[in-house]
Amino acid sequence: MRFIVPLAAIAIALPSLAQQHDPSMHSQHMAEAAVAKPAPRGARQLVKFPAEMREHTLANMRDHLLALQEIQSALARSEYDRAADIAEKRLGMSSLALHGAHEISKFMPQGMQDAGTAMHRGASRFGVAARDAAVTGDVKPAIGALSEVMGACVACHSGYRLK
Ligand code: HEC
Repeated sequence: MRFIVPLAAIAIALPSLAQQHDPSMHSQHMAEAAVAKPAPRGARQLVKFPAEMREHTLANMRDHLLALQEIQSALARSEYDRAADIAEKRLGMSSLALHGAHEISKFMPQGMQDAGTAMHRGASRFGVAARDAAVTGDVKPAIGALSEVMGACVACHSGYRLK
């Protein structure tokens, strides 16, 4: 249950981050926008993927969650470069080919594609912020960037489900 600790740390850190009006924290606005209420039951758009692609996507999703946990665990130990590597390889732009994103995107409505792109870009930005933390010792921008990544998970999940 070790991973509860970093999650709780983020839950505590978030409101204080949101109160800062530092223009360099512009990413925070996106995170707030993305942290929408979950859609009411049945309101999510049903998207049909070929069976094999559905299985592949869900397996990727489980790895996304694992990656988030590994990232938080790395942040808690001040292993910032490791956190950046995980984000870039498993969630960021360089994970796109790995996920067969081009092929899969053909089956996605535009809003779903946009949420996917937001997650990949956000993860790459998190990687930069985490590497900065290794230099500055200030982890807050990285935690803010990570919440933006998670905002993209939330946004897509509240809009879409798979058949
Ligand atoms: C582009 C859209 C999109 C993004 C972005 C996204 N997901 Fe998903 N995810 C889905 C869909 C669609 C499902 C299937 C949900 C359903 O059918 O009810 C899913 C399912 C899951 C599942 C369940 C897997 C299973 O075996 O059933 C997990 C865990 C998950 N996502 C984690 C994440 C995490 C963590 C992130 C962000 C780092 C993320 N997802 C980002 C679309 C997305």
